[in-house]
Amino acid sequence: MATDNNRFQAIISHCKEYGFIFQSSEIYDGLSAVYDYGQWGSELKKNIKDYWWKSMTQLHENIVGIDAAIFMHPTTWKASGHVDNFSDPMIDNKDSKKRYRVDHLIEGYVDELEKAGKKAEGDALIASMDQLLAANDFDGLKKLIEDNKIKCGVSGTVNWTDVRQFNLMFSTQLGSVAEDASEIYLRPETAQGIFVNFLNVQKTGRMKIPFGIAQIGKAFRNEIVARQFIFRMREFEQMEMQFFIRPGSQKEWYEYWKEARMKWHMTLGIPADKYRFHDHVKLAHYADAACDIEFDFPIGFKEVEGIHSRTDYDLSRHQEFSKKKMQYFDPEINQNYIPYVIETSIGLDRTVLMVLSNAYEEQDLSTPEKPDSRVVLKFIPKLAPIKLAILPLTKKDGLPEIARQIMDECKTSFKCFYEEKDAIGKRYRRQDAIGTPFCVTVDHQTKEDQTVTIRYRDTMQQERIHINKIKELVEKQIL
Ligand code: GAP
Repeated sequence: MATDNNRFQAIISHCKEYGFIFQSSEIYDGLSAVYDYGQWGSELKKNIKDYWWKSMTQLHENIVGIDAAIFMHPTTWKASGHVDNFSDPMIDNKDSKKRYRVDHLIEGYVDELEKAGKKAEGDALIASMDQLLAANDFDGLKKLIEDNKIKCGVSGTVNWTDVRQFNLMFSTQLGSVAEDASEIYLRPETAQGIFVNFLNVQKTGRMKIPFGIAQIGKAFRNEIVARQFIFRMREFEQMEMQFFIRPGSQKEWYEYWKEARMKWHMTLGIPADKYRFHDHVKLAHYADAACDIEFDFPIGFKEVEGIHSRTDYDLSRHQEFSKKKMQYFDPEINQNYIPYVIETSIGLDRTVLMVLSNAYEEQDLSTPEKPDSRVVLKFIPKLAPIKLAILPLTKKDGLPEIARQIMDECKTSFKCFYEEKDAIGKRYRRQDAIGTPFCVTVDHQTKEDQTVTIRYRDTMQQERIHINKIKELVEKQIL
């Protein structure tokens, strides 16, 4: 069995080999921290997206979805605080010229301490770092790095520059050069598309507080340290929901959404001990409380989702900058006010990585007679890229025709895969490797009694069922 770091590398290789995730523009040697989803990765990602969307918009009568543009008026980002505040403290190593995010550099060192059995020392270092970050004490952060003799991974030296802030937004020009070109940003979060549409949705949807607006879409950040596969990308997707509430009720709703989101995570087939909450010490410029839901990735416990109590910061700032009222009239208390907001913000790509990491299993199936092994992705059926593989045992004797009929019957309801090439055992293993929960094999007995063999991915057990039962059996599992 692979160690954790090896396991992470094994998952990355598996994703490439089996059509889940490729490096972007690979033929040109790739683009750092940008990835493309292949045929099975895009199905997995879409299934996660649909599941989140349904749980937010279909299962909550008071949450609706929107799809706002990536480009927004540049003043949006002044109002939101991103122009002035969306930056991270960075430090450069003078010898290697490599730039690090300060918190990542220190966290990397703490990981090493923990591996060396010095957990208490690591915890103390993190606590000091959190305090210094919260106080924006850059000199203190540099001293912390130097005092602990934290080295650059490339040069191996402790020859550091001062700590400085770098903005993470990408910018581009709107309009041709001849026209009045103006600088605009690629959105670093989808949330602002929701805030600027708050009154449009509230009025046209006749929404009453409390209500939510959900959105899924791309976001862009010029991440400095971006070397953890799809965990930290420069172009990624977020699934965000802003929940508009009466001022003063934020504590109660914050707790509500913490619990609701953790419950959602529990339905992904991931054990509870793989998750934990992490409360923020250094709050973002817009928040009065915030926490992360962290998952135990092969690279350690890391953030998948943030839950933020954003106060009325964003709507107030948009009111100030746009000079348009962002108020809501609450008929129950007969008052106008700017609503407070609880945000749930989950990274879609990180969720893909989380689901893949949890599903990936290397199994030794050796018997005294022969060595054997398999890699299986144990996705819950709802998220699996392919739900059912339909495999005629041979290419002749009318078996493909029957298999094709099953395919036609099922493919309108869920994603199926038809394959007749290679020995059946090989075909099963290929389906295991992409996480297909059910395979049916059409054989000569099928012609006699209309039964097929159904094979279950996780147990590898097989049983015979009637052809008419296949669709119903799969549908029950993917509800
Ligand atoms: N609107 C709030 C917001 O954007 P965030 O904590 O910066 O908050 C929310 O981001 C989520 O987006 C994170 O929990 C993470 O899952 C995902 N995310 C952020 N930066 C990312 C990156 N560079 N690559 C992949 N996912 C990222």
